Amino acid sequence: MYRIGEAEVQRVRRLIESGRIFRYGLGGECDKFERDWASFVGVEHARMSRSGTAALYTALVGLGVGPGDQVIVPAYTYMATALAVLGAGAIPVVADVDDSLTLCPKDVERRLTPHTRAIIPVHMVGLPCDMNKLMRLARKHDLLVLEDACQAVGGGYRGKRLGSIGHAGAFSFNFFKNISCGEGGAFVTNSQDVYDRGSVAVDCCSFYWNPEEERPDLQFAGHNFRASEFEGAILNVQLKRLEGILTKMREHKKMVLEAGAEAGYKSIRNHSLDHECGSHAGFLFKTEEEARAFADGLQAQKVSCFLPMDTGRHVYTRWDPIMRYQGAHHPALDPFEIAANRKCRVKYTDDMCAASLDVLNRAVLVGMHPNNTKAKVRRIAKAITSV
Ligand SMILES: Cc1ncc(COP(=O)(O)O)c(C=O)c1O
Repeated sequence: MYRIGEAEVQRVRRLIESGRIFRYGLGGECDKFERDWASFVGVEHARMSRSGTAALYTALVGLGVGPGDQVIVPAYTYMATALAVLGAGAIPVVADVDDSLTLCPKDVERRLTPHTRAIIPVHMVGLPCDMNKLMRLARKHDLLVLEDACQAVGGGYRGKRLGSIGHAGAFSFNFFKNISCGEGGAFVTNSQDVYDRGSVAVDCCSFYWNPEEERPDLQFAGHNFRASEFEGAILNVQLKRLEGILTKMREHKKMVLEAGAEAGYKSIRNHSLDHECGSHAGFLFKTEEEARAFADGLQAQKVSCFLPMDTGRHVYTRWDPIMRYQGAHHPALDPFEIAANRKCRVKYTDDMCAASLDVLNRAVLVGMHPNNTKAKVRRIAKAITSV
């Protein structure tokens, strides 16, 4: 969490003193955040939930994805993206990322089958996917698009906010995200239908709290991934900080990329440098050895950086429940076992996305931080030049 302080404390204090800590019926903190988040992202609806994982799962339910469907996910993403697909009863199909570290449109096209129902472009480490190409492809093949913007909260793509371009978008507000309430999430959409169905998945009682809103047509068994007013209160303050955080990180990232370019390093291909989050400046090397030598050199100068390949559950080879076909707690509910998925099951192997492993082994990401001073960013730039 980048910045949290007295304003958040005051807001939570006011909430506790009011005694109104249940989200429904009061037009309170969650209602306000959902309205403001939808408006910030530029969509009609936002529904808060417990986490980014819950936001992905409930958005998939909202979109009507389920057994019999394949959903394409990138080889580089936190495994929750793929697990949410299993949660909805569908089968994740893993596609390559390219030298932008995001979903490769050409590889998506290669992996399409008659069962492909949706794709989940993931804006990893704040880097936007090639949304124009992916949306064109989705239109051509009649696919649904759910943007996973969990690592790109507030970022944009050519003037549009990430999460607003596909049929739905999902965000995480956990401890590591651009804004945070400790744990939290939200999905967004322009579709009333997706919003209504997704809302039942978030809260089995969604349409009962207000009798005027009852929807007898939407009485499937949902869950309780309801957000609390505490999370709403914190996020209402955090949202005011977001634009400033992003502006600063983008400015710092450009300084670091310029230093890299002057030193002759190739930066990671970016689909919208002026609008993205700016949370990581990345460089791509010809070999893994060069990448590791660069990272070691920076770390020796106390500049924190990492190779995406080293980030555990963010690389498909480390998604154990998927690689071991353990899709649910009970075989009768397991999407890998159920009859409806018999035709759309796929084989997962360590080398199924070898091109991604190659890129992830040759990239180095340097983290930006809004609390960094210009002097600190100059030090990072200098370290890059000296390495
Ligand atoms: C790309 C991506 N998708 C989904 C998630 C899941 O979010 P959460 O941890 O809030 O469930 C994360 C979390 O870090 C993520 O990085």
